[in-house]
Amino acid sequence: MGKILVTGGAGYIGSHTAVELLNSGREIVIIDNFSNSKPIVLENIKKITNKDFKFYELDYLDREKLEKVFEENKIEAVLNFAGFKAVGESVTKPLEYYYNNVSGCLVLLDTMKKYGVKKFVFSSSATIYGIQKSTKYVEKMKRGIPTSPYASTKIMIEQILEDLYKADNSWKIAILRYFNPVGAHESGLIGENPKGIPNNLMPFIQKVAIKELKELTIFGDDYNTPDGTCRRDYLHVVDLSIGHIKALEKLESSENGVYIYNLGTGTPISVLELVNTFIKVNNIDVPYKIGKRRDGDLDEFYAEPKKAKEELNWVATKTLEDMCRDSWNYIASKKD
Ligand code: WQD
Repeated sequence: MGKILVTGGAGYIGSHTAVELLNSGREIVIIDNFSNSKPIVLENIKKITNKDFKFYELDYLDREKLEKVFEENKIEAVLNFAGFKAVGESVTKPLEYYYNNVSGCLVLLDTMKKYGVKKFVFSSSATIYGIQKSTKYVEKMKRGIPTSPYASTKIMIEQILEDLYKADNSWKIAILRYFNPVGAHESGLIGENPKGIPNNLMPFIQKVAIKELKELTIFGDDYNTPDGTCRRDYLHVVDLSIGHIKALEKLESSENGVYIYNLGTGTPISVLELVNTFIKVNNIDVPYKIGKRRDGDLDEFYAEPKKAKEELNWVATKTLEDMCRDSWNYIASKKD
């Protein structure tokens, strides 16, 4: 068995997936340039799993350094987590997002092709659906109008992967459309800790809970939902990570092709429901106020998770309480 290359493996989703890969007996190689992560994460992956792995500090855009990884290791599949992922930031830094996410993925795919590595798992996002007739997203829906450069990069790469397979049907590709990943490993050793003021809801709640930020602003309570706040499909990052193991197994046991899956719980949760669950489960105060709407937010969207259940034998098992408890446990015990 060859090794699994995990790009961006020191990042939030990458590190949790690295843990699950090691726990399932896989040999992995991690590459990361620490643009959105820290070296301590690698030590914590080893602490959690009691397993070792090779690591290369490099930018996957650096073709020469990337080829060295393929020269020195028998890579049999690649999981790509090296994309930048802040929607708001992508609006102010479009070139960085297109360069890192799209050009980086092209360099990675071309290098894989050169070394005959044809199994690829791509981190896509529910944001590729944009506005649809139904707020319950199904994989067969057409990709929508991108609402940010971040969304555009995900749509472009999905298109690139489909075109790549049409030209060369020796590839096996899984496209995983994440809904809203939240939470942290139960050990509290790894989790989400974005630099600066968080864009996303859960990291913001965490910073208010540890009193790093004063209060949460809920962006609007006049949406067309039961309590007026937006509804999303929050899913525990460990469930999401296990979805990658299932996708890899699917590629290993299936015909060549492009396989697309929603990874979500299928249950929409409102901002107020999430905030109040976090407060209740952790018995901690999270002061908040209602502010005006944030541009681009949809009233609600959530996954139809049937296809992943039927074809990957994957379902999200962790509850909203687990997500809130693990998020708090991580941020409250953070040392670095
Ligand atoms: C969730 C809800 C906000 C912050 C995006 C991307 C998606 C994924 C996750 C990368 C919304 C509200 C938020 C705050 C708030 N990105 N909110 N106050 O926008 O659903 O999804 O991020 O993987 O691909 O599309 O996530 O966490 O930013 O917002 O009221 O301070 O929380 O309005 O309704 P979103 P989010």
